[in-house]
Amino acid sequence: MFQTQQDKLNQDIQRWGDEFGRTRSALIPILQEIQAKYFHVSEHAMQVVANMLDIHPVEVYGVVSFYSFLDHRPKGKFIIRLCRTLSCAMQNKDRVARQLENDLGISFGETTPDGRFTLEWANCIGMCDQGPAMLVNDHVFTRVTPDKVHDILDGCRRAFGVFATEKRQEYLV
Ligand code: FES
Repeated sequence: MFQTQQDKLNQDIQRWGDEFGRTRSALIPILQEIQAKYFHVSEHAMQVVANMLDIHPVEVYGVVSFYSFLDHRPKGKFIIRLCRTLSCAMQNKDRVARQLENDLGISFGETTPDGRFTLEWANCIGMCDQGPAMLVNDHVFTRVTPDKVHDILDGCRRAFGVFATEKRQEYLV
């Protein structure tokens, strides 16, 4: 029988319920698993989680909208977060930002139409003496220049095929 994406999501949520429990304390771990695998937490997913944990869907939505690592809109498989805080701002982060926007053809806060890249601002990520700094998923890049942007994006594009179905894109470690 053909299994729809929704069936698969339902099964995954039940499996994570087995793993983390079916009480309110399992809410965040389960939402993190959904985010990691499906790159967002859809309204359907929120409803299924709410039913499973016997809590109101509004409570689930509240958690998803509160935490920056959760999102109800689909994000790219590579989430690029460029630091915009003072030290990086003084180290030419604007030039890096313009290069990212030009190379990806999107603005900050947007996702490329092919679903590969999302571009976001970050606040200080603790690499102030090595700015401009940015994250690609969990990987930190420091002293980023416009020239380096091209190589970094190229690395992502090359890794995309290999990791398209993987839970996490640990392509650079
Ligand atoms: S100001 Fe950018 S990493 Fe701290």
